[in-house]
Amino acid sequence: MNWILRVANVSKSFPDGADTRSVLSAESLTIGPGEVLALTGPSGSGKSTLLNLLAGTLLPDSGHLLLRTAAASGDEVIVIDELSQAARTRLRRRYIGYVFQFFNLVPTLTVRENVLLPLELNGLQRLSDEALGRLSTLGLADRLDDFPDHLSGGEQQRTAIARALAHQPVLVLADEPTGNLDAENAEHVVDLLIGQVRALGSAMVLATHNESIAAQADQIVRLAP
Ligand SMILES: Nc1ncnc2c1ncn2[C@@H]1O[C@H](COP(=O)(O)OP(=O)(O)OP(=O)(O)O)[C@@H](O)[C@H]1O
Ligand SMILES: [Mg+2]
Repeated sequence: MNWILRVANVSKSFPDGADTRSVLSAESLTIGPGEVLALTGPSGSGKSTLLNLLAGTLLPDSGHLLLRTAAASGDEVIVIDELSQAARTRLRRRYIGYVFQFFNLVPTLTVRENVLLPLELNGLQRLSDEALGRLSTLGLADRLDDFPDHLSGGEQQRTAIARALAHQPVLVLADEPTGNLDAENAEHVVDLLIGQVRALGSAMVLATHNESIAAQADQIVRLAP
């Protein structure tokens, strides 16, 4: 399989008083281009922890997290957990898109500005037209000049999806992206998110408590409590 993301035997524990508490033990998974993996499991089972390891904001106790990216010179495999902190920050900016439960839009910027800001910060203005086109695909063509507090929850999350995908990340991480939406909006937003990830040929890890949303993924990994 032509994989994009590979997690191999990753373990993580956190200090718990005088002890340590194991959250993830020897987790392994593989995701190919255009594939979506749903991460389920009860509260506290380590879903956000695994996403943070993939984003390089946490480091594992053991095991490796590998991301394959296309470089001009050919494919490159990045071992996320072996990068310096500065290199992990660069990795996030270039290759990872993150969708949060609480949208995290900048309230003082319009829909258009929220989506274009990360491109401007990263010198990727050449992707602007495509990013604005994605806003139209997501049904926001007539909301470009609105501020986030004038949008419904579903519209805010669709804006946040357009922002997360603007730089065309190879890996998309979504942590309870529908946790703040009603059931109907949740289905719609996830349909759009999955459709866009497939169109880009990226890989997505989607943490969710919602079984019907998890069922839309290509694979489901259930973390043990
Ligand atoms: N930085 C940290 N320091 C100490 N403990 C942590 C840290 N991050 C997470 N934990 C602990 O690790 C466990 C797993 O947390 P995590 O947030 O990954 O769970 P989750 O599956 O995302 O839960 P939820 O469904 O509630 O979002 C929890 O017991 C949590 O308290
Ligand atoms: Mg969580």
